[in-house]
Amino acid sequence: MAAQSINDLIDDLKDRFNLGSSELFGLDIGNSSVKLIKLEQSKGEYRVVSYAAAEFPEGTISEGNINEETVVVDAIKDIVKSSKVSCNNVCAGVAGNGAIAKKLQINDGAQDEIEDQVAWELESFLTFDTEKAVFSYDLLAKDESGGLEVMGAAVSRDTVDKYKHIVRSAGLSLKVLDLDSIALANIFFHIYEDALTDSDDSWLLLDIGSSITNFIIVRSGAIVFSKDINVGSMAMTEEIQRQMGLNFAEAEDLKVTYDSKGNLPEEILDIISGVAEVFFKELKSTLEFYNSSSSDDSLTNCYVTGGGAQTPGLVDGISEALGLKAEVLNPFNRIKIDEKKFGERVVNEIAYTCIVAMGLAMRRVDE
Ligand SMILES: Nc1ncnc2c1ncn2[C@@H]1O[C@H](COP(=O)(O)OP(=O)(O)OP(=O)(O)O)[C@@H](O)[C@H]1O
Ligand SMILES: [Mg+2]
Repeated sequence: MAAQSINDLIDDLKDRFNLGSSELFGLDIGNSSVKLIKLEQSKGEYRVVSYAAAEFPEGTISEGNINEETVVVDAIKDIVKSSKVSCNNVCAGVAGNGAIAKKLQINDGAQDEIEDQVAWELESFLTFDTEKAVFSYDLLAKDESGGLEVMGAAVSRDTVDKYKHIVRSAGLSLKVLDLDSIALANIFFHIYEDALTDSDDSWLLLDIGSSITNFIIVRSGAIVFSKDINVGSMAMTEEIQRQMGLNFAEAEDLKVTYDSKGNLPEEILDIISGVAEVFFKELKSTLEFYNSSSSDDSLTNCYVTGGGAQTPGLVDGISEALGLKAEVLNPFNRIKIDEKKFGERVVNEIAYTCIVAMGLAMRRVDE
């Protein structure tokens, strides 16, 4: 307790005197691995300056629930050490667990009035008690008649406390807790800034992780629909494991080991495509739900990311199942990275698995 109070005091002093950088490390505690990334910003452009990640043993986190806190804390300590840059302040992201993000139209007013309206608007979407919720918002637009457009977010207090505790136990300071879905949207807006300016089109973004697929639809600089689907690439590993009588690590290895021509064995492909069919149905019904409530005919494009997006045939399958043009979201169309320093394999790993971590790292404390 005493140590924590001293840490608090140091943080307070740093904040008061504006010590340390306003730039934050993006910390993405995913279901399969933790990623820590630092971006350097100059004249509106970003460059990856450091990256480290560590995979979790099976069962450390499941469907967004952190089962083994000390394993997570130790993994964060390890990657801080291996990233070889001094890291204090982080922005972490949460997904699943009923975390929600929603665009809201509310009235302008004093800070507490705005907060009350955000809480009021989001209350009916919560999957946990309102008393246990923490609400937050980002201002998107303000109109002359006193209306505000905000991106409201809600997370359970238990989740906030857990993340604070984990980050602090790893010797870091949690400056911002964001939602993965918001980080995903923010980095997409940055990467495709030119194409999105003055566009009223909608875009579907999918982050296919290990256990969660973030399904979000964005339009005019905001999320208009968001759902964290509890299916990801791990379902494929588990099915390989089940059908072939292997342990998890062996099955995972088979799933990601391609031959010299970049192909997987026929037997593995069959298992993968069986799981993918179920996954496509889930995506399709989520899209149908959105379409039934929005009559949006401007949604024609889909960008896919996450480790699972590397699954052979998956992006084409999504395109066919949803009737949308689908392609992989490439962050390095805009964000710079030194390929010589990181190496081609790591650059590829960052491109697929670190979209959320980079979106988190774009946050600034003074926002
Ligand atoms: N080459 C590959 N082909 C298919 N799947 C892959 C490949 N490489 C990694 N994956 C899968 O990607 C997943 C990890 O992706 P990612 O890091 O985006 O997930 P996560 O952030 O840990 O999980 P979540 O987003 O659910 O919290 C793992 O399930 C892994 O098996
Ligand atoms: Mg993820």
